[in-house]
Amino acid sequence: MSRILAIESSCDETAAAIIEDETHVLSSVVASQFPVHGKYGGVVPELASREHLRAIVPVVREAMERAGCAWSDLDAVAATSGPGLAGSLLVGLTYAKAIAFAAGIPLIAVNHIEGHIHAVILEARQHGTPVEFPAVALIVSGGHTHLFEAREAGAYRLLGRTRDDAAGEAFDKVGKLLGFGYPGGPVIDRLAPYGDPHGVRFTIARMKGNTLDFSFSGLKTAVLRWVESRDMADELAARRELLRNNARPSVEEWLRATPQGTRDLVASFQWTVIEELLRHASEAADKSEGARSLIVSGGVACNSGLRAALTQASTGLPVYFPSAALSTDNAVMIAAAAFPKYRRGEFADLGVAAEPNLALADQT
Ligand code: KG4
Ligand code: ZN
Repeated sequence: MSRILAIESSCDETAAAIIEDETHVLSSVVASQFPVHGKYGGVVPELASREHLRAIVPVVREAMERAGCAWSDLDAVAATSGPGLAGSLLVGLTYAKAIAFAAGIPLIAVNHIEGHIHAVILEARQHGTPVEFPAVALIVSGGHTHLFEAREAGAYRLLGRTRDDAAGEAFDKVGKLLGFGYPGGPVIDRLAPYGDPHGVRFTIARMKGNTLDFSFSGLKTAVLRWVESRDMADELAARRELLRNNARPSVEEWLRATPQGTRDLVASFQWTVIEELLRHASEAADKSEGARSLIVSGGVACNSGLRAALTQASTGLPVYFPSAALSTDNAVMIAAAAFPKYRRGEFADLGVAAEPNLALADQT
């Protein structure tokens, strides 16, 4: 029986989890910093590091307590070493090094994006329907939009990536622009069913060069132009007022402060992002020789419109999504990605550095 404690702190969630023998989750704790960054409409790196410093000890302690573990029960400690915000990564990685040193157990450095892939592999195994390889993996989050081919878990080839904004970043920027607060993705997701997805016509030009690359900044600018061409001052003020009084308004409250034209805009924006992700996933499935599954992960994988649109019928492959809890940042996925490395004895030196731009695979 082997137990791994994992720590995730690459962006604005401080998380710790303990899993036993690849699939058995003993505990998972996530402390989110949304209330801290909300009023700035995005993550402020300096505030994020400070909040991680505040949260790291209680979060790890809670994960240990919930799992009923003592330090001596752990076989290894894992932490995200990149990609992510430098100061944020350092907090989790340094704390993991201290645990490894004090408890005399190996340290495992995990790539955050590989963590998102392993969230899906772990849950599929738990459900008795393991992901079949080779697989295409679409990782869509606030910081990343990547398409990989995975010959097997651990062997990745980059097929495409965003050249500017990540998909989640586009949701967050549009959310901020429309006065929906941060993060914008979940609110847009909940409001989109109340608008006409074809009410506003947006187009995303095909990329020159690698057609599997993404670009979302043009769409963001198109939404900005739409907003600028209308007088939205009153409704923007109404939504900001709503957020001031209530950090998490209900759908009904949002709808009361959102006229039909803006609902159509929200639905059309979301649909344009979904169509773009669908087109890329289908094209990658066609190009990737012998692909047998499609893995979709990262915060945007929570999106209900995306979940409904990406199916075996639309992509040609069985599609694997993580549960909502494992779509956004968490430490279970880091522990899951650490297990194969633990079995292979792939341990990190205590001098290992945080790498904000750590890549999972080179583009070929
Ligand atoms: O994976 P994650 O927690 O952090 C990063 O690694 O970036 O993803 C957070 C991102 C945010 O941009 C958030 O707006 C987006 O995921 N997100 C969503 C939804 N839930 C979270 N985007 C669209 N629809 C959702 N339901
Ligand atoms: Zn993430």
